[in-house]
Amino acid sequence: MERTLAIIKPDAVERRLAGKILQRIEDAGFQIRAMRRVHLSRKDAEGFYAVHRERPFFASLTTFMSSGPAVVLVLEAPDAIKKWRTLMGATDPAKADAGTLRKEFAQSIERNATHGSDAPETAAFEIGYFFAGIELM
Ligand code: CMP
Repeated sequence: MERTLAIIKPDAVERRLAGKILQRIEDAGFQIRAMRRVHLSRKDAEGFYAVHRERPFFASLTTFMSSGPAVVLVLEAPDAIKKWRTLMGATDPAKADAGTLRKEFAQSIERNATHGSDAPETAAFEIGYFFAGIELM
């Protein structure tokens, strides 16, 4: 079993797509091990996306991610990191495969509906950013 951190981003929550995305998560066979609604501060978003701080889109991304509530989740499944990334589709919805969440729900490369950890080390950092160990037992 593996765990990954998933976010239903502010664009999707604002458009009332959280329920549909949660249904897709459950239909795909993930266990939701933890879940919380959060409204990130700019500093919270900067800390979460610190690996991207040198990227040209960092300021815009952290402004967007702190613009409204999001839903953060810990998903569990065999090969959860890859499985969740496959369900989300490519970062850029223009390149996402048919049937993926981003193809269906993303509005742009930034307002792309969902986030997922990209590796086991990232998942450990990102899960710990939002959830205490006790919440995952
Ligand atoms: P996410 O998977 O959360 O990881 C970093 C985020 O930066 C990405 O989704 C997008 O929301 C955002 N982003 C904005 N512009 C770009 C870009 N040109 N390339 C990659 N990510 C981008």
